[in-house]
Amino acid sequence: MTRLDVLALSGSLRRGSLNTALLREAERLVPHLRFDHYDGLGALPHFNEDQEHPAPLAVTDLRRRVRDADAVLIATPEYNASIPGALKNGLDWLSRPAGDDGPALALKPVAVVGASPGPFGTVRAQLALRQVLHKMNAHVVQQPEFLLFQAHQQFGEDGRLPDGSPAQRLLSDVLDALARLAAPGARRHETAAAVR
Ligand code: FNR
Repeated sequence: MTRLDVLALSGSLRRGSLNTALLREAERLVPHLRFDHYDGLGALPHFNEDQEHPAPLAVTDLRRRVRDADAVLIATPEYNASIPGALKNGLDWLSRPAGDDGPALALKPVAVVGASPGPFGTVRAQLALRQVLHKMNAHVVQQPEFLLFQAHQQFGEDGRLPDGSPAQRLLSDVLDALARLAAPGARRHETAAAVR
């Protein structure tokens, strides 16, 4: 199977994050995907059009890591029925072209997952995130959807989802779908060149 490089982006900044745990679980599940865990969201400056040129170093690093990846896996918490501000800020930086290059996420295969201790499993945050990614012209995995509700009860003390659990199987299915979308030669519908 083709080895693919995946940038894993957690929308949570906190150490004990359920969403970051989800990304660690994803890495363990699928050995043929190489994970780069991005943890710099909290260090990005607030997006400011006056500070785009030259781009801050932290932004350049994020853009490079997105470009170097074959695919991106985003795990989003739900804050007030939407995505956390830090994640939206990172996406706003990524939506802007850098030099002659278009926006780093445009045409990039992306999968969205999310975990919440609540009963809705980030469904509203994922809808909001999909809307943003649609505007950015990313290639987002549509099915299956992965929503982990009551997530604090689903991870074992080892920080893992139980082997063979429905949640683990579904996560594995999402990763398979992402790998298919990112595989060399996969047919992706290429639309508008630049998103501003
Ligand atoms: C939350 N939380 C939350 N949960 C949810 O399911 N729907 C929501 O709208 C909200 N809103 C919300 C707002 C704010 C400001 C905070 C801090 C929290 C709870 C949230 O799901 C919980 O803290 C998760 O554990 C956050 O994800 P991480 O950090 O564990 O990945």
